[in-house]
Amino acid sequence: MKAARYYDQKDIRIEDIEEPELRPGTVAIDVAWCGICGTDLHEYLEGPIFIPPAGHPHPISGESAPVTMGHEFSGTITALGAGVTDLEVGQNVVVEPYIIHDDVDTSKGQPYQLSKDMNFIGLGGRGGGLAEKIVVQRRWVHPIGDIPLDEAALIEPLSVAHHAFVRSGAKSGQVAIVGGAGPIGLLTAAVLKAKGLTVYISELSEARKAKARETGVADEVFDPRDGDVAQKVRDLTGGKGADVGFECSSVPVVLDMLLDAVASGGVIVNVSIWGHKPEVDMPKLVLKEIDLRGTIGYASDHPDTIALVQSGKLELAPFITGRIGLDGLVDEGFDQLINNNEEHVKIIVNPRA
Ligand SMILES: NC(=O)c1ccc[n+]([C@@H]2O[C@H](COP(=O)([O-])OP(=O)(O)OC[C@H]3O[C@@H](n4cnc5c(N)ncnc54)[C@H](O)[C@@H]3O)[C@@H](O)[C@H]2O)c1
Ligand SMILES: [Zn+2]
Repeated sequence: MKAARYYDQKDIRIEDIEEPELRPGTVAIDVAWCGICGTDLHEYLEGPIFIPPAGHPHPISGESAPVTMGHEFSGTITALGAGVTDLEVGQNVVVEPYIIHDDVDTSKGQPYQLSKDMNFIGLGGRGGGLAEKIVVQRRWVHPIGDIPLDEAALIEPLSVAHHAFVRSGAKSGQVAIVGGAGPIGLLTAAVLKAKGLTVYISELSEARKAKARETGVADEVFDPRDGDVAQKVRDLTGGKGADVGFECSSVPVVLDMLLDAVASGGVIVNVSIWGHKPEVDMPKLVLKEIDLRGTIGYASDHPDTIALVQSGKLELAPFITGRIGLDGLVDEGFDQLINNNEEHVKIIVNPRA
């Protein structure tokens, strides 16, 4: 079967590899669509980061580069391993793409995203969504009912957004400011809006600002080049500031803006993965008693995220700005997202095309 394999920085190859084998307790899936994530771009440009470099096998998967890429994918079940009795062949599903030790409790309420050696399918080994087929453990498979398979490729980043929302403790009726409206910022705004918050966004890219307006995920969209965003947030909140802020850009001035824009006693959730250590305005954090929180991946967020999409309270289709085949992955996918984010939000790949 065809697969996109990461060898090293700037070295991703489309190759023919062996099909994965069905084992007891696993599920075989024909991949329908797989999104290209900002993390994939980081791996391509400055990695390996999550990907275990050649010769340094991951402690759980036992694999190192070359590995198959892709962690944001949907597909259809083609076979069930021995002991899997609660799913059916032909069902459409998404995968919660974790690589986690077998003895870690992954039931609801458990913080398994924080367990030792955690990594992701499509980065740390165990196949990936940028291949025609994949076999995964039952516990990571989530049925999606009649959600279209292309939109379902966005359920993984939407679960990241949902977990960020859960971490924030935000409530209906509150005001949120989202800094950076790439796929993660836009999907975070979509969850916040669906949960009944007033949402403000700060973003530079024309396409992304337009997307935030068109989809209605933001009540107001600001461009920091047009004036002080924090002041605008205060003006709209009777001088108080936002209840919650979300850092989705990994740009230091955005974190500064959020520390300024949230109210005293407010919460900032840092969603970004930082390639460098940013300066944080601690005096401001102290004097305003701001809670600055991290969030990583998701933990039992997929069922709620899928239900949110099924409820029709948020739409995923508008965020898909490109559809390509596996052979175009680098030229029409990675290169477009790296050099042309003025036009793109999420590009999805059909590995069978
Ligand atoms: N915590 C997690 O589990 C998790 C999961 C997935 C992704 N991430 C991280 O989330 C971050 C966002 O991901 P993404 O795919 O949306 O990235 P992205 O690069 O597509 O989006 C960042 C956005 O920030 C905007 N931006 C840059 N400078 C700005 C400024 N001064 N003011 C306002 N906006 C500005 C950019 O125009 C861009 O649209 C990345 O760091 C990614 O690695 C974290
Ligand atoms: Zn991702």
